[in-house]
Amino acid sequence: MEKRFSIVNNDVEKYIVNTLAPLDDELRIIHENALKEGIPVVRLETLRVLETYLAIKKPDSILELGCAIGFTSIFFSRYLSEKGFIDTVENDISMVNRAKYNIKMKSLDKKINIIYAEAMDYLINIDRKYDIIFIDAAKGQYEGYFDICSRLVNDNGIIIADNVLYRGMVAKGDKIPHRQNTLVERLRGFLDRITKDERFSTSILSVGDGLSISVKK
Ligand SMILES: C[S@@+](CC[C@H](N)C(=O)[O-])C[C@H]1O[C@@H](n2cnc3c(N)ncnc32)[C@H](O)[C@@H]1O
Repeated sequence: MEKRFSIVNNDVEKYIVNTLAPLDDELRIIHENALKEGIPVVRLETLRVLETYLAIKKPDSILELGCAIGFTSIFFSRYLSEKGFIDTVENDISMVNRAKYNIKMKSLDKKINIIYAEAMDYLINIDRKYDIIFIDAAKGQYEGYFDICSRLVNDNGIIIADNVLYRGMVAKGDKIPHRQNTLVERLRGFLDRITKDERFSTSILSVGDGLSISVKK
């Protein structure tokens, strides 16, 4: 089992991860390699929550901010409608190249478009809309991403953001290490902003590193 900082009781987390359906070999290898190399990938318990929303929604279109090596976009592609596609944005060229390789190897390059760009630059320059937007890029910019994504998501669409409780620090009143102070303040601002936005129904789940789910009314 992967060992990472946990915001919930370790035994509970371990129990949940061991109970959930394991990944198939194709995805397990990508996930394990990413963890070995210290590449940030979504946690398995978080992935299963995402899966629930994808299975209900069967989206025609997904936007992901933060592709890394393509693990989540490959997983998400299994839940697309027949004509569905994914746009996934990444600003690190070495990640882009590895994602391209992984996606091509699985013959998913017609369904998954990898965009080498700063997430914010991409957002301000597009006019297409999406059924699901998964925010998993620069944590300090989540509020700005959400502002634009709130216009780019279809009605009844969903904006999901990962790591919103950032190692549990977002919920703590004090003793935030100096280095993380700005990030934690920004994530608090983000959560305050999205929970007050009346265009959306938002819930915050203490799964993985914290997940926000905002459904556009
Ligand atoms: C947590 S990882 C994404 C993990 C991926 N969604 C998964 O679970 O398989 C975050 C990624 O966002 C990228 N990133 C960070 N800041 C970014 C930005 N400003 N614009 C685009 N990508 C960014 C990082 O290079 C990193 O690969």
